Amino acid sequence: MSDHLVIFDTTLRDGEQSPGAAMTRDEKIRIARQLEKMRVDVIEAGFAAASNGDFESVRAVAEAVRESTVCSLARANEKDIARAGEAIQPAAAGRIHTFIATSPIHMEKKLRMTPDQVVEQAVKAIGWARQYTDDVEFSAEDAGRSELDFLCCVFEQVIKAGAKTINVPDTVGYNLPEQFAGLVRSLLERVPNADKVVWSVHCHNDLGLAVANSLAAVRAGARQVECTVNGLGERAGNASMEEVVMAVRTRGDVFPVTTRIDTTQIVPASKLVSQITGYPVQPNKAIVGANAFAHESGIHQDGVLKHRETYEIMRAEDVGWTTNRLTLGKLSGRNALRSRLQELGFVIESEEQLNAAFARFKELADKKQEIFDEDLQALMSDEVVTPEQERIKLISLRVCSETGETPQAAIALSIDGRESKVEAHGSGPVDSTFKAIESVMQSGASLLLYSVNAITGGTDAQGEVTVRLARGDRVVNGQGSDTDIIVASAKAYINALNRLDTRAKRVDPQGSTV
Ligand code: KIV
Ligand code: ZN
Repeated sequence: MSDHLVIFDTTLRDGEQSPGAAMTRDEKIRIARQLEKMRVDVIEAGFAAASNGDFESVRAVAEAVRESTVCSLARANEKDIARAGEAIQPAAAGRIHTFIATSPIHMEKKLRMTPDQVVEQAVKAIGWARQYTDDVEFSAEDAGRSELDFLCCVFEQVIKAGAKTINVPDTVGYNLPEQFAGLVRSLLERVPNADKVVWSVHCHNDLGLAVANSLAAVRAGARQVECTVNGLGERAGNASMEEVVMAVRTRGDVFPVTTRIDTTQIVPASKLVSQITGYPVQPNKAIVGANAFAHESGIHQDGVLKHRETYEIMRAEDVGWTTNRLTLGKLSGRNALRSRLQELGFVIESEEQLNAAFARFKELADKKQEIFDEDLQALMSDEVVTPEQERIKLISLRVCSETGETPQAAIALSIDGRESKVEAHGSGPVDSTFKAIESVMQSGASLLLYSVNAITGGTDAQGEVTVRLARGDRVVNGQGSDTDIIVASAKAYINALNRLDTRAKRVDPQGSTV
């Protein structure tokens, strides 16, 4: 059995299925480049058949990435598989990941198919996929609640049809570690030709066990883990990539495998994903939380100073906490900015784009002494918007907030190039700003989430605000950053409104049909 553990990152697909986490093509390319730099083996870039936009994103990632395999998800039907096959065509190494549900409840209630029909469809799907690539992965959706005999039968047939990776998803996060390891062990023992394929697991975190289940499966013989940066994903999320990778590395005494991940790229990847999706990382999150390596108690601090390993099992620098801190300042020039942006994965396509970024950089450098990578990422995410995403722009904002007085905001917006000015009162400066925007826009959207994070340390840090809006069945996140958090809030709200207008309808891969 191989001692290489394949890291299959699905941040751009399952991660994107988190409410409001939909990413633009350019955002996906930036994350994909960071995943490639981190030496992820397989990048699941999306579900190509979901919409034209999703197709374009998978294709763009397939064009941009050279060192990792690029994969598209596809339901087990000919049309989806053709879209996936076309989308991965430019990849240096491309994979099609096709799936069909195998649990009694999914087959009967969702697919309305008999077990025999499911096996037949799965086998056909492998045949269709192999017309595009030899690297075909098959997933038995809801394997965690499927019957073992039936799973063995499906897997036997898809292996015979040519699937190279067999994925065992705990789609609803129902399993417990010992039970899930037992399932993987039984499959490896019972499925004919099990030794000819790579066994993979894909665990959801509904009971907080996604990482534990994945690791138990690795000890039972799985050699691919599907995971996401920061554990992003449907509902409670997927297994967190950084936790899986660092557990395997830190406990090499227990795990008979290694990954090829450059762990120093973990924190930059975490920050990038958080910044792009608007999903903040909780401070006490393992590995990538701001407090993951902070020692508050005197006893711990004393111990660490005497001998680091008294209280630390990993080194902060090994997961990237000290890399990428290179700063730029007021005196840095255009070339320094260009090269740092390029290192961060931004493509500077024209002098105008660089000029615009440089002007914003100078504006920020006037307000803030040191500019960190995170500041540049925030600055560029404000910059990288397509014209159709920018129907509404902030021109100016004035907010009055005084003890004992009702806060008031006066805002000027440009809407399709026409200026509108309005004033509104609210219960606080942010509330009055949002009310002012809404009195012009009348979007009918409801505010689901408002969160503020400091991008870096210090009182001159930029505040990064996330606003999540819902209208009908659409949910979008908007981000804004500024050294003034009320301005950042206005930018985030406007960004969400722009996205609400432009986001196209997509097909849910795990919806009701095959
Ligand atoms: O959770 C799941 O079952 C999935 C499959 C499509 C692999 O995401
Ligand atoms: Zn999933």
